[in-house]
Amino acid sequence: MLNSSEQIKRAQEHLGKLLEGQLARIESMKATKEFVNYDELETIIIGVVGGDGIGPYITAEAQRVLEFLLKDEVQRCKIKFKVIEGLTIENRAKVGKAIPEDILEELKQCHVILKGPTTTPRAGDPWPNIESANVAMRKELDLFANVRPVKVPEENIDWVFYRENTEGAYALGSDGMIVNDDLFLDFTVATYEGSRRIIKAAFEHASKSGANKVTVVTKANVIKTTDGKFLEIAREVAEEYPHVEWDDWYIDIMTAKLIDTNRRSQFKVMVLPNLYGDILTDEAAEFQGGVGTAGSANIGTRYAMFEAIHGSAPRMVDEGRAQYADPSSIIRAAGMLLEHIGYTEEAKKLSMALDICGQFEKRLVITGRDNGATGGEFADYIMETLNSDDLVDKWNSYL
Ligand code: IPM
Ligand code: MG
Repeated sequence: MLNSSEQIKRAQEHLGKLLEGQLARIESMKATKEFVNYDELETIIIGVVGGDGIGPYITAEAQRVLEFLLKDEVQRCKIKFKVIEGLTIENRAKVGKAIPEDILEELKQCHVILKGPTTTPRAGDPWPNIESANVAMRKELDLFANVRPVKVPEENIDWVFYRENTEGAYALGSDGMIVNDDLFLDFTVATYEGSRRIIKAAFEHASKSGANKVTVVTKANVIKTTDGKFLEIAREVAEEYPHVEWDDWYIDIMTAKLIDTNRRSQFKVMVLPNLYGDILTDEAAEFQGGVGTAGSANIGTRYAMFEAIHGSAPRMVDEGRAQYADPSSIIRAAGMLLEHIGYTEEAKKLSMALDICGQFEKRLVITGRDNGATGGEFADYIMETLNSDDLVDKWNSYL
């Protein structure tokens, strides 16, 4: 048993290592500020990672839809798909790592990645309590901007969340300290570079999209250092965008205002630290039909990853129902991928087809069971809809 001064010394050493890691991360952020230009690439490599549970099933359907839309591009070798197997909880548990080395290497050979859900271990389940593969991938590939749109046209809701994706409570989420049997600490991290780049991305989007409004969400009245800096940096960035209106809210009242029907449609682009972003985007997705309907983009300067924000539903696989899993969310994510690499027209069409099939026409409905369509049938339905000459008119007729 260590005495208290030994406990403090051990904690100080642990903290020292964490600080070294964070300072190194800042240097690497500073060194990689240029975004990839996809037009200039000879071939864009799209990695496809199935993940756990229903992941491989729904991801395969999303890949089929992408291949359908990018047929010509694949033919002329502008686009190449690379399926990456093995990012499964079994493999991760075996090597005791959130992302096995060989898989990380394969991921780094891609430009953009489409990723199915991965199981996140937690204390008490049969898996070692290793870091989430999601969180690890965001950190390893420095995917700092988690962009999550939520739209409910009939309620005038058109939100885009810019969730900071590599810092905050997540940066050292698996590196907290157990000082002794009585004292436990976790850390939250903000850096100047990290805060500035996400806030800048939000203002840039607000400016380019014409939304011209940014809401900065923090808890700077209580979390004075990290959130305080985040807000201060937001003030600084806002000065570079005099035509973009902005305001700031605390996370607690923000969760309330999202259900205030008089107020919520005034929000447009929101930017917020990691954990608040995690929570608020689940709440927001609920208005649109739940997390199963939302796609999510994780964007960095060199890599970008697109994923569904629901879980891996291992029970569906155990019960033999994986083929009935809804691929809508990962197909939405595939649409965000298309948009990101410059196929804006294809992305728009896909989004319309998803609206028509999932919300308006609903000729096939997914129930998650054999009384509904399979994911494969639903993907066929989407492709058929994409193929129809009157796609745009059809979509408009439902508005
Ligand atoms: C999300 C998820 C992840 C997160 C989990 C699975 C680690 O909730 O993408 O929002 O907390 O970021
Ligand atoms: Mg979440």
